[in-house]
Amino acid sequence: MPKRILSGVKPSGRPHLGNFFGAIKQHIEIQDIPDSEAYYFIADFHALTTVQDPALMRSFTLDVALDYLALGLDPKKATFFRQSDVPQVCELAWHLSCVTGMGLLERAHSYKDKLAKGQTPSMGLFNYPVLMAADILIYKSNLVPVGQDQVQHIEMTQDMAQYFNNTYKCQVFVRPEARLNQTAKIPGIDGQKMSKSYGNTIELQAEGKELKKVVMSVKTDSTPVEAPKDPTTCNVFALYSLFADDAEKQALADRYKAGGMGYGDAKKALLEKIEVYFAEYRTKRKDLQKNLDYVQNVLKDGAARANKVAQATLDETKRACGLL
Ligand code: ADP
Ligand code: TRP
Repeated sequence: MPKRILSGVKPSGRPHLGNFFGAIKQHIEIQDIPDSEAYYFIADFHALTTVQDPALMRSFTLDVALDYLALGLDPKKATFFRQSDVPQVCELAWHLSCVTGMGLLERAHSYKDKLAKGQTPSMGLFNYPVLMAADILIYKSNLVPVGQDQVQHIEMTQDMAQYFNNTYKCQVFVRPEARLNQTAKIPGIDGQKMSKSYGNTIELQAEGKELKKVVMSVKTDSTPVEAPKDPTTCNVFALYSLFADDAEKQALADRYKAGGMGYGDAKKALLEKIEVYFAEYRTKRKDLQKNLDYVQNVLKDGAARANKVAQATLDETKRACGLL
């Protein structure tokens, strides 16, 4: 049996460099691992915990679909679909919630962080890890590529699979493992972690004047042009390093250390790298935008494939608990 690899991406804003280097790039590379089959979905049900404007939900969902396809997701290799097109996950989430103690969910870091920030949590936010476990278990996924922030959710999924199998003395669910994305945190233009919620992102879609404006606004210190500079503490250098090979990194680091180069020059070098690296993606994205029927068909075909697997697991689950 090939290994099943699955991951979900929330349509909660326009994808940015942090999402690309921290997740999307790995997802696309994984579709070529021999003896495996990749399932990727747009986690729109999960996004409902924060995105509650229908127009935004539609546009963010389309953004994720266009970005993945333009960046190289091949629908012949990977099954790509929208979470809400496989509503069986909600039914499975109910089964899992009936064998899961509230204590497990109360210990979730992401839930506790939001409580600590004074948010009034919805039931959706509280149950978020149960729906995520259902996403993973319904496809009998073996590997789940995620960032460090999601590892606890995978551990909770392992627990829920075991609770169900133990309660009903069955082996319906397979234990999934996290596959940690190796990329370190990508800094945003203000030096904090790049994140939609901090408004410090460089969006993949940005180009031309808009891109230039964002890149030129990357925060740097006030070392004067003529003075030597430290590349290891500079956001521009960190971002440049994502695109450059070792020789190019060394060359720019040498210019920093020699002095006489302003941060403006480093920003121009970064801008050029981003423009070249994403040029093909931008062209492909524009072509796809003119061919939205194709995009919808990809998602529809993916959903049809995912539905079959999901329904089979749900039937097994219902049989195990006496509902079939
Ligand atoms: P955001 O913080 O912008 O809302 P998400 O939480 O939706 O981003 O992240 C989606 C994926 O992108 C996750 O797998 C996460 O680990 C990765 N990711 C997001 N921001 C970064 C970053 N700054 N550096 C590395 N990976 C990131
Ligand atoms: N919670 C994930 C995130 O915020 C998105 C997600 C939903 C997911 N369901 C999933 C990731 C299943 C992996 C597997 O990034």
